[in-house]
Amino acid sequence: MKNLTFLVLILLLSENSINANAKNHKHRKQGKAGPPTASKGRPLVYKNDDNGGDVLDANATPSVTISNTFSVRSYGAKGDGVADDTSAFEKAWADACKVQGSTVLIPSGFVFLVKPMAFSGPNCQSNIVFQLDGKIIAPTNFGAWGKGLLQWLDFSKLKGIAIKGQGVIDGRGSVWWNDKTTTYQTDQEDASDLQGEGEDKAGMPSTKPTALRFYGSTDVTVTGITIQNSPQTHLKFDDCVGVQVSGISISSPANSPNTDGIHLQNSQDVIIHTTNLACGDDCISIQTGCNGIYVHNVNCGPGHGISIGGLGKDGTKACVSNITVRDSTIKNTMNGVRIKTWQGGSGSVQGVMFSNIQVSEVENPILIDQYYCDGHRCANKTSNVAISSVSYQSIKGTYVTNPIRLACSESTPCSGITLSTIILHPSLNAKNDSPFCWEAFGEIQTATTPTVTCLRNGGPSHKQPSNSGGSC
Ligand SMILES: *[C@@H]1O[C@H](CO)[C@@H](O)[C@H](O)[C@H]1NC(C)=O
Ligand SMILES: *[C@@H]1O[C@H](CO)[C@@H](O)[C@H](O)[C@H]1NC(C)=O
Repeated sequence: MKNLTFLVLILLLSENSINANAKNHKHRKQGKAGPPTASKGRPLVYKNDDNGGDVLDANATPSVTISNTFSVRSYGAKGDGVADDTSAFEKAWADACKVQGSTVLIPSGFVFLVKPMAFSGPNCQSNIVFQLDGKIIAPTNFGAWGKGLLQWLDFSKLKGIAIKGQGVIDGRGSVWWNDKTTTYQTDQEDASDLQGEGEDKAGMPSTKPTALRFYGSTDVTVTGITIQNSPQTHLKFDDCVGVQVSGISISSPANSPNTDGIHLQNSQDVIIHTTNLACGDDCISIQTGCNGIYVHNVNCGPGHGISIGGLGKDGTKACVSNITVRDSTIKNTMNGVRIKTWQGGSGSVQGVMFSNIQVSEVENPILIDQYYCDGHRCANKTSNVAISSVSYQSIKGTYVTNPIRLACSESTPCSGITLSTIILHPSLNAKNDSPFCWEAFGEIQTATTPTVTCLRNGGPSHKQPSNSGGSC
């Protein structure tokens, strides 16, 4: 009896969502393309009272099972990898959005072709689950992307959103990676769309989309899934608070340009763990506005390593703090753990710990580059993003080019850099190279291999980070 009272109380507390469910169900009965899908979890029972409201009746025999699962298949998605399933996804999302704790189901055994789509949330109920068991593929025809878009699958302004399952998001990015002048390779389903575009328009737009983005959302979970072959970044979080990423796999070829694995900006309280990242750019890229980022048990490679920055481009102010990366492996990458800033920026990077990182065949395992310059020659400026309190503990393995390079800014030298248990050997075909430091201050806590003699003791006395014009 106690249990029953408890159940009724719970149901009453979630009255809003039940009403939404009930309305939804009535809709479906009227023949709207709605999904009478199997309910996950315990069925809820309601009956109509005489005033037209839905009331709970704990004693009734279950006459109606209310489902909060919306399968895209029930909205007409074909899932044959050829038909355009975008509108089915849009309808399923629109209905799921009205129900608190609902599930959008993308069932296994199907391949859904979905065009660029906004899973827009400002008017949605909270805690929606996107159960991805099947595969979603991006269009590869020029026409689907207009003049170029920044996102393919874009979730925004949600409170509680989870993407889970064993499914795959495939950006089919190879058509974007190839140079515009190279032969355009099209899948069969796109051939008709291409007709009439003209041979010279065969290339894709120059703006390449991120495969999966979350914007302006809280309590975001991404778990289990695979994201592959994105035209650009695979998974991006912008302006999010409370992010959990685990058990996912990201993969694209080592030579695919700008294909970051996970990109974070303006986000707080982010945990990324138990994840495999293989791509053509940074495995994880931490940008301005990030605070409280915890990365552990991640495998990175191929790729460019795990990076904070580039920060302070075009004189901008950047603030990054409280970043931990630990218990991870980095293999066959350009860099290991890197902090990069542009000349002329302001703000700070503060409180970073890299701990227990196993590197193997990494060109530059430990790298701070405050002279970051993307291609052209960049002039030196009188300010920079200040870097302080960065600790490297137990970084072990093999390097290809330079084991330790701390190239700090003359205007705002690095301070509080600590090194302990650093053991880096040249890989089989690499030359022995000595650590390099410039304007780097800190402390060697235990003897390192190779020996570091260039780190300066104490703190920079002549200039303070506040000179850089940006306290965060
Ligand atoms: C730093 O970030 C972690 C999450 O990674 C959080 O648990 C911790 O409270 C933060 N510490 C401070 C001092 O903000
Ligand atoms: C900027 O300053 C650094 C450190 O003094 C120096 O090595 C580099 O050559 C300078 N770059 C330019 C473009 O002047």
